[in-house]
Amino acid sequence: MQEAKLKIKERILMGSGPCNVHPRVLNAMSQQTIGHLDEQFAQISKEIKYMLQRIFQTKNELTLAISGSGSAGMETCMVNLLEPEDEVLICINGVFGNRLADMAERCQAKVIRVEVPMGEIIKPEHIEQALKTCQPKLITIVHAETSSGVLQPLEEIGKIAKEANILFVVDAVASFSGIEIKMDDWNIDAIYAATQKCLGAPPGMSPISFSQKAIDVILKRKTKVQSWLLDVLILKDLMTAGKRSHAYTSPVSNTYALYEALLMVMEEGLENRYERHQEMHILLEDSLKKTGFEFIVKPAYKLPFVNVIKIPKGIDDVVFRKELKQNYGIEIAGGLGKYVGKVWRIGLMGEGCREDSIQLLLNAMQSILKKCK
Ligand SMILES: Cc1ncc(COP(=O)(O)O)c(C=O)c1O
Repeated sequence: MQEAKLKIKERILMGSGPCNVHPRVLNAMSQQTIGHLDEQFAQISKEIKYMLQRIFQTKNELTLAISGSGSAGMETCMVNLLEPEDEVLICINGVFGNRLADMAERCQAKVIRVEVPMGEIIKPEHIEQALKTCQPKLITIVHAETSSGVLQPLEEIGKIAKEANILFVVDAVASFSGIEIKMDDWNIDAIYAATQKCLGAPPGMSPISFSQKAIDVILKRKTKVQSWLLDVLILKDLMTAGKRSHAYTSPVSNTYALYEALLMVMEEGLENRYERHQEMHILLEDSLKKTGFEFIVKPAYKLPFVNVIKIPKGIDDVVFRKELKQNYGIEIAGGLGKYVGKVWRIGLMGEGCREDSIQLLLNAMQSILKKCK
C-alpha cells in the first residue's frame, strides 16, 4: 500500500472539541468508498438511525446524520421551522445562543432574546415571563454551552413549551453521548448534535431528529425552505431506499466513522459512558482545586466535559497554551466572548475523557506554572 505524503503531528485534544478519535474509528474511516446508493450503505444508514434514536431517546422516524458540522444541524432547524415574520424565542447564555439568534434573523424571523449572563442558566420563570408578551413559534436553547461550561436543565422548559403549543428546539452539539438526553420525555421537537465532541468521531456530520409535530409545521409552510441542501423533507429521502438518488451524495467515509463511533457507544453502554464522563470530571476537578484553581460555574449546573477555570494571576493565556501545545502536545481551549484571556476550558470528551490524559495534562500544567513563577 502506498503511504500518504501528508503527515499530521498528533496532539492530545482537551479543548472544547474536536477530541481525539479512537484508532478503531479511524480504521473504519480509511476503508474504500462505496456509492451512497449502494445497498450496504443503505443498511449502514439504517443502523445509524437506530443508534441515534437510542442516544437521543426518541422514536422519531426523521432521525439521521446530515453532512456538515454542528452548525449545519443548527441551521437545518432554523431554516425548516422558521418563515419570515415568525416569532422565535432564543435563550442566550453564551456564544452559541447568539449564533442561533443570528441564524433566526437570517430567516427573517422576529427574534425575542431571553438572555442571562454567561455562566448562568435560563430558568423556567425567565421563559414564563417572556411568554407574557409574545407568542413564539419556537423556543431554542443550548443544552451544553461550551463557551461557558454550563449544563442547561431542559425538562421544565420542555413542559412549558408543550403546554403553550410552542416547538422546543435544542442544541445538543456537545452533550450528545456525554450526558443523558431524553428527547421524547422532555418534549423536544427538533434537536441537532455533532460528531466531534463526546461521541469522539471526526467532525463533519450532524445528527438531527425532528418530531412529528415539527414535521407537521414544516408541511404547512407557506414558503419553500430557502435552503435546498438543508430541507429536511429532501434529507428524509436520504433514509428511504429507492428514493436516495433524490437527495445529495452522502459523506461516505465520515459515515463509516460515525457508524463505528456509535457502535462503540453502544458497546460501552450509555449509562457507563455518562458515568465515565462524570467520574473523570470529578477527578480533574479535585486535582485542579487542590492546586488552587477556581472553577467559575456553580456546582449545580457545571458541565462535566467542559471545565472552565480561571487563569491564575500573572499567567499569560496565549504563552501558556502555546507552551502546553508545543512542548507537551496538549491542546486546551481559551475563553470565548467575555471570557477571552480570563479562563481556560478543559475538555473531557469521548476518547480524551480518560485518566491518562488527565494525568498528562496536570503534570504538564504544573511544570509550566512552576517555570512561570
Ligand atoms: C454548544 C455548541 N453549539 C454549536 C456548535 C457549533 O458546532 P460546529 O463547530 O460543529 O459547527 C458548537 C461548537 O463548538 C458548540 O459547542
